[in-house]
Amino acid sequence: MTFTLFILTFTLALVAHREATQEMRGDVHFVEIRWSSDNSAHPEKLTLTCKAPESLHGFVYWKKDLKWAGNGMTLKITVRETPDAGNYTCWSNTTHELLSYTVVYITKRGANGEIEESVLKCNETVPQQRTCFYCEANNYSGNFTCFWEAQSQNSELKFKMEAESGSEVKPASGTVICENPENNSEGTNPELYSASCRRENPCSFTEEYQPIMLSLNIFNKYVFEKHAISFFIKDILKPDISQCQVTKHGMLTWSPPPTWSTPVTYFGLTYQIQLVSNNNVKICEVDHSSLFQHEDILRCTYKLCRFGECFIRSRDHYYSNSAWSDWSKCRSSSTHRNHKNTQPDNSINEHKGEVEKCRC
Ligand SMILES: *[C@@H]1O[C@H](CO)[C@@H](O)[C@H](O)[C@H]1NC(C)=O
Ligand SMILES: *[C@@H]1O[C@H](CO)[C@@H](O)[C@H](O)[C@H]1NC(C)=O
Ligand SMILES: *[C@@H]1O[C@H](CO)[C@@H](O)[C@H](O)[C@H]1NC(C)=O
Ligand SMILES: *[C@@H]1O[C@H](CO)[C@@H](O)[C@H](O)[C@H]1NC(C)=O
Ligand SMILES: *[C@@H]1O[C@H](CO)[C@@H](O)[C@H](O)[C@H]1NC(C)=O
Ligand SMILES: *[C@@H]1O[C@H](CO)[C@@H](O)[C@H](O)[C@H]1NC(C)=O
Repeated sequence: MTFTLFILTFTLALVAHREATQEMRGDVHFVEIRWSSDNSAHPEKLTLTCKAPESLHGFVYWKKDLKWAGNGMTLKITVRETPDAGNYTCWSNTTHELLSYTVVYITKRGANGEIEESVLKCNETVPQQRTCFYCEANNYSGNFTCFWEAQSQNSELKFKMEAESGSEVKPASGTVICENPENNSEGTNPELYSASCRRENPCSFTEEYQPIMLSLNIFNKYVFEKHAISFFIKDILKPDISQCQVTKHGMLTWSPPPTWSTPVTYFGLTYQIQLVSNNNVKICEVDHSSLFQHEDILRCTYKLCRFGECFIRSRDHYYSNSAWSDWSKCRSSSTHRNHKNTQPDNSINEHKGEVEKCRC
């Protein structure tokens, strides 16, 4: 039985600047090894060349890490497994001076092309649609944030976000720039990472014609992983939470999420109000346009909120595929004097029943 094996190698020449007089040239090889389902893989053979002056020809040796790896101007290596990747350095065997180096990165893929042994926790809920990172936008400004989670804390991990333009021409939708990824070092989960990105010169009022294409490049020592996604801003919208109060007569008042795109009459929102009383959960839905009073205050009298707790969340009115915000709890307006920012409330389970229209 034969297995199709794809092995891809591509080489990038890098020039690393060393001290003023001398340029240290380093090559980089990315080797992709595809493992078949019976756990076999064709190794990839590479010939590395030492970049040494003519006078030294024949008088060089190679090291990988601290170990001797061979003699001579060229070094033949076989890459199949993680330990085969690394930094191959070439040295003069008279002066023991470093002459050049070649970095070999390995990417291991499974029979279906998926990254094997990813350092990320990937979401496999939807078969054939494994996602290892995702992005969210809280408005249409073109700013968004991407998130991912490492399997474990690992200080070797280096992340780099890269935007790809789908075509040769500069994308009409503007170039995407991402800040350096950060980990959640203050929080309890240092394995969580995020990077904020923005699309330059977006015009939030026009339809998006081209998706944003992003890849997350991960270097785990000499193991390389690349995860790519593409999306439109409208698909990744998730509004921030709204501040909400409830009077003792059951009148709810709230404002659109403070970071939502303005004017809100143009960037419409749909709201859901959830009532929780005696383990009973009811949800009703209402469109922003039917609620506008004056300024940015929305109102809905929902008498049952007197007897239980009410929560509110919002979603882009025009893209029902986009995400709901987190729920925020409506504070009783008589006690809201001291409260700080409303925190999202994730204690609520997803409601499976009917969603009614709110009679406000
Ligand atoms: C230097 O390199 C030559 C050619 O590879 C080899 O024959 C010789 O043994 C090396 N000398 C030392 C001191 O390593
Ligand atoms: C490889 O080794 C060279 C020489 O020590 C060093 O300058 C370079 O930064 C190393 N590169 C990587 C990716 O380890
Ligand atoms: C995985 O993806 C599914 C579908 O997109 C989503 O409903 C679910 O919340 C995700 N799970 C995690 C842990 O992110
Ligand atoms: C996007 O975020 C950057 C900071 O990352 C901020 O300077 C900029 O004003 C934001 N752009 C918009 C349109 O909100
Ligand atoms: C992640 O956070 C820890 C502190 O919890 C820090 O020591 C480490 O350098 C950070 N790693 C990265 C890749 O930013
Ligand atoms: C849109 O969200 C970004 C952060 O993602 C924020 O900097 C910006 O101020 C928001 N725009 C408006 C109009 O609030």
